[in-house]
Amino acid sequence: MTIQAIAWSPSGAVRIIDQRALPEAQIERDLESADAVADAIRTLQVRGAPLIGITAAMGLVAGTRELRAAPRETFLACLPQLVRLLAAARPTAVNLRWALDRMTRVAAATPGDGAAIWERLHAEATAIWEEDRAMCRKIGEAGLPLVPDGASLLTHCNAGALATGGIGTALAPVYLAHEAGRRVHVFVDETRPVLQGARLTAWELTHAGISCTLIADAAAGALLRQAKIDLVIVGADRIAANGDFANKIGTYPLAVLALHHGVPFYCAAPSSTIDPSLEDGERIPIEHRPPEEVKALAGRPVAPAQVAALNPAFDVTPARYVTAYLTDRGVMQPPFGGEADP
Ligand code: MRU
Repeated sequence: MTIQAIAWSPSGAVRIIDQRALPEAQIERDLESADAVADAIRTLQVRGAPLIGITAAMGLVAGTRELRAAPRETFLACLPQLVRLLAAARPTAVNLRWALDRMTRVAAATPGDGAAIWERLHAEATAIWEEDRAMCRKIGEAGLPLVPDGASLLTHCNAGALATGGIGTALAPVYLAHEAGRRVHVFVDETRPVLQGARLTAWELTHAGISCTLIADAAAGALLRQAKIDLVIVGADRIAANGDFANKIGTYPLAVLALHHGVPFYCAAPSSTIDPSLEDGERIPIEHRPPEEVKALAGRPVAPAQVAALNPAFDVTPARYVTAYLTDRGVMQPPFGGEADP
């Protein structure tokens, strides 16, 4: 059983697993307002490109519950402010803006009063979630032939069930290989500074009974050189038209090392992660997070308080390092066009 990262609560709030508390505790939180959802995205209670898109769409619904009795004009007039609040929560994952643009278009095109528009938005947010679940499975099917019995792969950050509405992107082929009875082993980069690999990927793979070994990020190069890795699969936060893509900081050096050692390097992502409006990766906005995340580990200082620290949350991997893209449309090569259109 894979973990389900998001749900509607019975009262219509957005129910999340607070990922900051993993792996020590599995805490569910009900987010009642767009403010609470924006805060949860900003503070990494929910994270992972597809999941933050889904969460924002659901947050827009939770945040407009009070407007159900409002006339159409009032409902539509209140929407842009909430959309801006949610869209500003994190800049790099295009899924966030993609989901909110889709919700905005649907609201404008729905006839009727506040109640009718709200019902339609609720259905659309649920559809975004369900489509993501289906896209994850298709990514898994595209990647399954690459994960034969006995395969060892390396992944970075968390691009699994905790980052999506389904079985993940980079981990989807792993889940399907495991489901098919193949023996598969995953080396998991711990993923400093906030340890999504150690805290989340290692946790969800263990939870699913999939064999994995946690490594310090710095160990990946040695494993690749020793031919212990058959393939690398990572997720993406935004893929430009030419195939350059942003993903968790530390992805780019892995791609360079993989090419150097002749190990195939795959980027797995749904169509909603493709941003055809960007020609290449140079213009992908890179989030810079607080330096404290680098200067501390699990809340404890690991550096002098006064030292400067730089904390870019993502890097850009040029397309030339990518063997292929595993998407819901199959195994693809750039250039990418309007794949994200619903
Ligand atoms: O900062 P995070 O934890 O949101 O970063 C997540 C990643 O970089 C993932 O690899 C990416 O979003 C793909 S998730 C399917």
